Amino acid sequence: MKYYMPARVYAEENCIANHAEEICSLGTHAYLITGRSSAEKNGSLDDVKAILENAGIPYEHFNEIEENPSVDTIMKAVYIGLDEHVDFVIGIGGGSPMDAAKAVAMMVCQKEKRASYLYEKGSDEALPLVLIPTTCGTGSEVTGVSVLTRHDLGTKLSMFHSVFADLALLDGKYLTSLPHSVLADTTMDALAHCMESYINADATVYSRMCADAGLKLWGKSKDVIQGKREAQPADYLNMLHASAMAGMAIAQTGTSLPHGLSYTVTYQTHMPHGKACGYFLPGYLREASAKDAAHVLKKAGFASLDKLEKYYQKTSRPEELPVKVLETGIQEILQSPGRLAKVPFAVDEAMLRRMARL
Ligand SMILES: [Fe+2]
Repeated sequence: MKYYMPARVYAEENCIANHAEEICSLGTHAYLITGRSSAEKNGSLDDVKAILENAGIPYEHFNEIEENPSVDTIMKAVYIGLDEHVDFVIGIGGGSPMDAAKAVAMMVCQKEKRASYLYEKGSDEALPLVLIPTTCGTGSEVTGVSVLTRHDLGTKLSMFHSVFADLALLDGKYLTSLPHSVLADTTMDALAHCMESYINADATVYSRMCADAGLKLWGKSKDVIQGKREAQPADYLNMLHASAMAGMAIAQTGTSLPHGLSYTVTYQTHMPHGKACGYFLPGYLREASAKDAAHVLKKAGFASLDKLEKYYQKTSRPEELPVKVLETGIQEILQSPGRLAKVPFAVDEAMLRRMARL
């Protein structure tokens, strides 16, 4: 058994300013990696720029990370980083900019390597990395995983390397401007992480400790997501804690079938990641051992599987998915021994079809 999560995590109000010195000690030329505009809107980008300017540290800003970033976009950012001689990376945003920042930090460090290196064995050495989540589902700030879009394969695929942040900075204020649908979808991702990690062939007493803690924290936010009460500042920080705990769990175990099935769905229909994972989550619990399913449901505050299903339908409002897309996802899973090895019960095509509601 092993437990490995080397990122130093700070979680508090004004987190970036409070830890300015530590952030700025990581290098002399920063590379900010963000999406198009959300880091600007929620104030996180300005907070980072302010501490860098105050410390006299020059920075470059790549703001072209798209939802589900492609290897092509990563390499565009890498070449700019190499030209500018950046020596540390700060990824700000949801899972896409943070996953992209990990890949960029590694590829700028491995300067002789080409894009194919992302999917080859070799050194994971990367530039120093800071990650600042501004959504509350991915947990990317505490995992070594970077999921990238492979247009050549028509799906999303984790790079073969593990790159952890040196620093992860959690501040709930960056979540307050999120649209409600994004909160619902990203918290669904965190729930899937906890449940898929708990019900996982690689689960350990340590990973389950993180999954349990994540589920308990997650349960506290349910009323906010359902619109039963207004979110308070503490709720946003709590959602970040839940997401980070869920991330610490999957950093040990990886995810399982709902994530595996979701990738084709997201690639082909553009359904948001958390919503796509949630689509398959009740079906996964239905196939798991009754004891494990009851445990994770209870920890998250659901009286039954039916209640989780209703919660998902109400908060994520999923559209019906094309049968062809679901069939493709099932075939990809059946040809993925690594993914199947994560499942602690027997998997066959009939079972995957039930999970996919076919
Ligand atoms: Fe996820």
